[in-house]
Amino acid sequence: MRTVAIVPAAGSGNRMNRGVSKQYLTLAGKPLLVHTLEVFEASAFVDAILVVAPSQDLEFIRSTILTPWNLKKVCGIIPGGMERQDSVRAGIEALSPETELVVIHDAVRPFITEGLIGSCVRAAAEEGAATVGVPVKDTVKEVGPEGRILRTCDRSLLWLTQTPQAFRRDLIESAHRAAVRDGYRGTDDTSLVERLGIAVRMIRGDYGNIKITTPEDLVIAEALLAASRQAKG
Ligand code: C5P
Repeated sequence: MRTVAIVPAAGSGNRMNRGVSKQYLTLAGKPLLVHTLEVFEASAFVDAILVVAPSQDLEFIRSTILTPWNLKKVCGIIPGGMERQDSVRAGIEALSPETELVVIHDAVRPFITEGLIGSCVRAAAEEGAATVGVPVKDTVKEVGPEGRILRTCDRSLLWLTQTPQAFRRDLIESAHRAAVRDGYRGTDDTSLVERLGIAVRMIRGDYGNIKITTPEDLVIAEALLAASRQAKG
């Protein structure tokens, strides 16, 4: 099935407190966005990549990311929107007619692996929608606005969702259309599908598939990268 990866990279990175958007921060001398795109470039499960970027950065991405790093599978750089959901929708609207499966992955999760992409894409081909995630390790509390605990959640049922999230194309298109119609805002793409009453498969992912959000995540990322290099010898 023809599979396109949509990589939302249009965030401004306010929580990072650096002058530069986090997808361009360097990890071991390479921009985060390059680390992420290289895995999809090499993936046997992905035919083409659409990068969604800040509208003022389209040429910058072509000249400083795609050309120097020889990322040939990228077939389009699409201007993003106000929120992540708007950026993903812009990517979906730019899909070529023959696209059958869509795999969405945050630019700022550079530790994605071919194994996880494969599991997620295969599950979406079989069942319609799938995400990667991990069981929570800590006890989760619901806390009220005044800072007091309202509820302790049943940890045995709780997972943290990550990306990739993969979908049959028609399903993710209708989910985004329904979200626009209903004014629904979600923080991931499976939530848009869940609200249509469709079951989404959860695939056990990897605790190392972190999202780089705050400055301490970069320190963890350097350590993870060093450990994986050591393991490879
Ligand atoms: O902000 P957050 O960490 O949730 O961003 C996750 C991903 O979504 C990042 O790769 C970011 O660049 C992207 N994003 C986007 N458009 C936005 C906001 C975030 O493509 N308006």
